[in-house]
Amino acid sequence: MAKPKVFVTRRIAQETLNMIASSTDMELWDNELPPPRDVLLNKVQTVEGLLSLLTDKIDAELMNAAPELKIVSNLAVGYDNIDVTEATKRGILVGNTPGVLTETTADFTFALLLAAARRLVEADRYTRAGNWKTWGPMVLLGQDVHHATLGIVGCGRIGLEVAKRARGFDMKVLYHNRVRRKQADEKAFGLEYVPDLSELLSRADFVTIHAALTPETHHLISTAELAKMKPTAILINASRGTIVDQKALYQALKSGQILGAGLDVTEVEPISLDDPLLALDNVIIAPHIASASVVTRTKMAMMAAENLLAGLQRKLPPNCVNPDVMRRR
Ligand code: DGY
Repeated sequence: MAKPKVFVTRRIAQETLNMIASSTDMELWDNELPPPRDVLLNKVQTVEGLLSLLTDKIDAELMNAAPELKIVSNLAVGYDNIDVTEATKRGILVGNTPGVLTETTADFTFALLLAAARRLVEADRYTRAGNWKTWGPMVLLGQDVHHATLGIVGCGRIGLEVAKRARGFDMKVLYHNRVRRKQADEKAFGLEYVPDLSELLSRADFVTIHAALTPETHHLISTAELAKMKPTAILINASRGTIVDQKALYQALKSGQILGAGLDVTEVEPISLDDPLLALDNVIIAPHIASASVVTRTKMAMMAAENLLAGLQRKLPPNCVNPDVMRRR
């Protein structure tokens, strides 16, 4: 029997590719950059499985071009690049990679927070530029993290891990979430639930965003919200770029309305080199690498491969975002 055709849109851990290739007719897009749209539309014409990344837009147009498609396995926990409603309508399963990246992403969030608070990137630039002439009592003064107040916006798995790390720094932790967490979690992680986002923004020294991107969270943090923050506050975003209105953030950073920001994500990725944010010293911008550890990316790839192979066999993928597809069959 012919093996099912699959398209993998970027090189991932070799053992995972071997696993996929052993039971499918796999084509790999072995390039640093994503397949251009026309290439992607062409490649999916005869495939039953697609292993996609968050840079691949999986919409109705793509599904129209892929009449055989059974499973889209996204190598990410987020799946805002996929029109899940459309996939479900067509009986196409969608898989994602939750859990395995939680702690790695929380570690990186904390790295961004510490680096922004203590001006680490600026300090490195200062040293390399030959500005380190002596120990200076007023040089590169930053903000204390210990005993400061952290406001977590979107407190799911990753938010909770960030809260855990914050406890080691004796921080007070506030959180705002669609649904209040169980009392046991609040107690275990020392969390204070703040139902009003404005209140959280006005009380926090550090605001960190971990909400999923949905129509409701698009530009959740814009001019009015930034105006609520303290002039000494720092905004961290390791979720999705469009949750923060980047033009409003630029104005707030430039005018000193807030002190700084640490971003792992931007509205347009990659950020354009002429974006005004890049001219500011009080923002750190990383290229969407919060989950990028060797171990975590390997685990994510393995999970994505398992989801893909299950979907090809019409089995429920271990991590499926639209299990309704199975019930309807
Ligand atoms: C995700 O998984 O959604 C991250 O943004 C990349 O790891």
